[in-house]
Amino acid sequence: MVDAEQFIEDAVEELREEIGDANAVIALSGGVDSSVAAALAYEAIGDQLIPVYVDTGLMRKGETDQIRETFAYMESLRIVEAQDRFLDALSGVTDPEEKRHAIGEQFIREFEREARESDADYLVQGTIYPDRIESEGNIKSHHNVGGLPERVDFEGIVEPVRDLYKDEVRDVARTLGLEAIVAERMPFPGPGLAVRIVGEITSEKLTVAREATAVVEDELESYEPWQAFAAVLGKATGVKGDNRVHGYVVAVRSVESRDGMTARAQELDWETLQRIQSRITGTLPNVSRVLYDVTHKPPATIEYE
Ligand code: XMP
Repeated sequence: MVDAEQFIEDAVEELREEIGDANAVIALSGGVDSSVAAALAYEAIGDQLIPVYVDTGLMRKGETDQIRETFAYMESLRIVEAQDRFLDALSGVTDPEEKRHAIGEQFIREFEREARESDADYLVQGTIYPDRIESEGNIKSHHNVGGLPERVDFEGIVEPVRDLYKDEVRDVARTLGLEAIVAERMPFPGPGLAVRIVGEITSEKLTVAREATAVVEDELESYEPWQAFAAVLGKATGVKGDNRVHGYVVAVRSVESRDGMTARAQELDWETLQRIQSRITGTLPNVSRVLYDVTHKPPATIEYE
């Protein structure tokens, strides 16, 4: 485990030396890694840092507002409202890797424009040690900001948390005084809710995934899962009043893991599961079934796409 205070001091110094009087951009995702990288860079260069948050419409409930609040102290923060453009880019796309590609492309397009406008010479990224290992193994095409450096001519890319593990990043986050909601946030995939919807993404399915995930996160907080969420699988018959209806099937997933490479489905008690079911079907009349996923990784993955 690194000494967080010493790490912060060294990282800020290094960022200051490397970036000097230039401008730098960073893509904020709401996750702890980019939040810590941004906080360190802001400490080092102040408003020469332009943090960019792209609202893809694939984020969790309340996430954009929360980012606006957490980073309100950074006057240079830019929030890009790109929900409709992402939905357009995803229209008709059903293959998981194509989805990731469409999201990655759109993300780069949005961020590229902001980077050019901000006249930035440097790109700051929140890459952590396991990301580097995983992308070397090329297990899954993570979008993050991969591809951007080839399209915008940066003088340099700075990755202040590149040698840290997740728990060390969280420790640094706490030491930096980032709120618990950021420091303790469970990992959320770059492509967001899109990998929690099987098949085509629509705004209706996004609403189901978002609202149902908010219920799951709330109900399962005390289980301290590595990740817990709801996914939208498809449709099945249900009954509302006297009518048979074709509603969404929602899968609840809650896993324990150290690094996401392997995972165990958590054992939940029946009352908790029933409460989740009743809150989801109560909030979302277009959901006809709620299932609990008991599959470990392997053979399943954590996400659904
Ligand atoms: P899987 O589903 O492969 O997920 O078992 C392992 C961990 O990686 C996250 N994940 C992603 N993160 N872009 C990301 O930034 C992605 O495309 C992506 N796919 C999965 C997942 O949330 C879990 O923590």
